[in-house]
Order: sequence, then C-alpha cells, then structure tokens
Amino acid sequence: MSGCFNTVEMGVPEDATTACSFAIRAAQAEDYAAILAVLKTANFHHIPSAEMPELDLDCCFVAERGGHIVGVAGYKMIVPGEGKTTLMAVDPAMQGAGLGMALQRRRLKAMRELGARAVTTNADLPHVIAWYKKHFGYREVGQLAKIHAFGDPGIDHWTTLRMNLDAWQERDAV
Ligand SMILES: CC(C)(COP(=O)(O)OP(=O)(O)OC[C@H]1O[C@@H](n2cnc3c(N)ncnc32)[C@H](O)[C@@H]1OP(=O)(O)O)[C@@H](O)C(=O)NCCC(=O)NCCS
Repeated sequence: MSGCFNTVEMGVPEDATTACSFAIRAAQAEDYAAILAVLKTANFHHIPSAEMPELDLDCCFVAERGGHIVGVAGYKMIVPGEGKTTLMAVDPAMQGAGLGMALQRRRLKAMRELGARAVTTNADLPHVIAWYKKHFGYREVGQLAKIHAFGDPGIDHWTTLRMNLDAWQERDAV
C-alpha cells in the first residue's frame, strides 16, 4: 500500500437529533462492491470510464456504520505539494449527519501528511460546492465539461475548486 492510513477514527456528530456513531477507516480490497454501491447513489459508479479510469483503494477512506459501508472518499497526489480529491459520496439515508465532513477532513489530513499544500476538487451539485466553500475554504478556479454522464445527469460540467491546506488547518484548529 502507498500513502495509506489504517487508523480508525470514531465520529459522533454534534447534532443530537441526527446522532449516530460511525467509524472512518482506510478502504480494503473486500470493500470494493460496497463502495461501488454507495457511489452508485450519486451516479459516480462508472469505473473504469473516461471520467474515472480507476478507483485506487490505497488512497480511499470509508465510513462504516453497523458493519455497513455508508460513505466513501478518495484522493490522490498529482505532483509534490498538490493533492486532488477523487470520488466522495455518502448514502442518501445517512446524509446530513456529519459523515461527509468526517470523510473530507480525513482525506485532507492524509494529503497534508503526504506533503500537499493545496487541494483541487471537482464538484457538480451547487449545494455541495457551497458546502466545500463554507467548511474548507475552497474557491472556484474554473469549469470543466463532463466527458460523459457522471454525477448529476442534469449538470454538464464540473466546477473546479481549490483550497489551501495550511489555511484550512489553521482555521480547523480554532
Ligand atoms: C457531499 C456529501 C458527500 C456530503 O455528505 P454528508 O454526510 O451529507 O455531509 P455532512 O453531513 O457533513 O454535511 C452535509 C450538509 O448538508 C446539510 N444537511 C442537512 N440535512 C441534510 C440532509 N437531510 N441531507 C443532506 N444534507 C443535509 C448539513 O447541515 C450540512 O451542511 P452544513 O454543514 O453547512 O450545515 C453528500 O452530500 C453526497 O454524497 N452528495 C452526492 C455526491 C457528491 O456530490 N459528492 C461530492 C463530489 S465532489
């Protein structure tokens, strides 16, 4: 495995009305089918494809609840100092409970530990773009036409976002 983390982190959202416990851990080969099932809920399961040639499980975290995988988030280092998020999705039945936040924080931490100072993310859904900006300090830097249907079929492009890991780390530590 390269650039991987096997630590298990427990997450308990602060909102008592949606309280549930879950674990964030490194993905393993036997998780592949369950990961694809979660990605399918967001139409992110077309792998391999031009949009997503492969899913590198060595650089992927999952959220597990009650023995089931309910969330996934991947990343990769593109050049030294530059990270990129790959796919992320949370089971719609589990959204809004903090799993996405925990998965995103975990992969940002992993990229930072690998030397990343900046991270690029492509997203299509407006509320998800707003979520990235609000919580992680992303800024829009461009748009990219989708190569084929992937994600929301009603949106034909990705919004490219970029964030600074040092600035986020300082903000997150407060
Ligand atoms: C993006 C995504 C992974 C976030 O996962 P999540 O577990 O819902 O994330 P969180 O619970 O940490 O945060 C969700 C936000 O939606 C809000 N929310 C509240 N109720 C919600 C609900 N029923 N459903 C969804 N979101 C809700 C939350 O309050 C939170 O916003 P806030 O932190 O600004 O208040 C998830 O929405 C998803 O899978 N989307 C589809 C795929 C996608 O766009 N992935 C990202 C590609 S780059």
